[in-house]
Amino acid sequence: MQERLNVVRLSEDEKSVVILDQTKLPNHEEYLNLEDAESMWNAIKLLQVRGAPAIGVFAGYALAVLAGQIADLPRKEFLEMLQKQADYLNSSRPTAVNLSWALKRQMEKAEKCKENDCHEIARTLIREAKRIDEENLEMNRKIAEYGVTLIKDGDGILTHCNAGYLACLGYGTATAPMYMAQEKGMHIHVYSDETRPLLQGARLTSFELAKSGVPVTSICDNMASLVMKEGKIQAVMVGCDRIAANGDFANKIGTSGVAILAKYYHIPFYTLGPSSTIDFSTKTGSDIHIEQRDPDEIRSMWYKEPMILREVDCYNPSFDVTDHSLLTAIVTERGIVYPPFEENLKKLFQK
Ligand code: MRU
Repeated sequence: MQERLNVVRLSEDEKSVVILDQTKLPNHEEYLNLEDAESMWNAIKLLQVRGAPAIGVFAGYALAVLAGQIADLPRKEFLEMLQKQADYLNSSRPTAVNLSWALKRQMEKAEKCKENDCHEIARTLIREAKRIDEENLEMNRKIAEYGVTLIKDGDGILTHCNAGYLACLGYGTATAPMYMAQEKGMHIHVYSDETRPLLQGARLTSFELAKSGVPVTSICDNMASLVMKEGKIQAVMVGCDRIAANGDFANKIGTSGVAILAKYYHIPFYTLGPSSTIDFSTKTGSDIHIEQRDPDEIRSMWYKEPMILREVDCYNPSFDVTDHSLLTAIVTERGIVYPPFEENLKKLFQK
């Protein structure tokens, strides 16, 4: 695998979390050293660290670092304070389940720890955060192995938003089969939707694929139908922020439109994600909380001059839900899940 930028890591002294500031890409490679809960919360909210699995890994490290800062407290107060910090971080963004998943996993680890010395509990959480990080990389590698079996030499693949290594670390998830295909010497060509309003496809996906040597063409969102009609696309591969028990899934706004187009043109449509993205407690997509973001993200589009008059209302849901009936398969680290999703997801994950 080619060398990738370091998206999330623990600092050498284990007292802060270092992230690549993704709002500065593709033109500037800047890193932020985050030590306090507020800057960690802001980093998630402002998308300096983003993408469901990367947010999960970040949250694991963030809570471990915060635990170290309150470790002089007696155990009971320590755990109460840590829960407050976890709840606070969890309030930053609602849709990607990986955030609450990682925080819950860390809290359970802390509570199970029999130690009265809270410094020891904090060290346990650092080890657990590293484990979450390593497990995530391993899951992405397995997703790559399963996912690559779905593509053929010469295929054109459309993707939406960024579910690459910047969002998920390692191979990424939607990009995992693309990177694996490249390693195997296969020839593929990726079409990357720009992904309005914050342009994760244009700024991030085309950046990371091009830098890694994977042939990529950036297109505006409203060109997806045309490239499909022109026969350039043989598969659509996207990430996911939360998969409900019935296979409905939330992903970046616009994903469901791409799925509808793919169905019309008889192109297989896949979502790829690790098990930390599957939320069996959410029965269907209508139970998924969709984040609403600042309308100025639509008005301003990264420039100082607004493109839309102030008095014009803007609607800015950050995600949408793709109905499972539009999905060809879900690719996970345990294998490829085909319909009926509810039954087959359960079989694979709830043995
Ligand atoms: O708002 P973002 O940039 O965090 O949204 C990211 C996406 O929607 C990704 O496609 C999703 O998190 C899946 S990444 C595995």
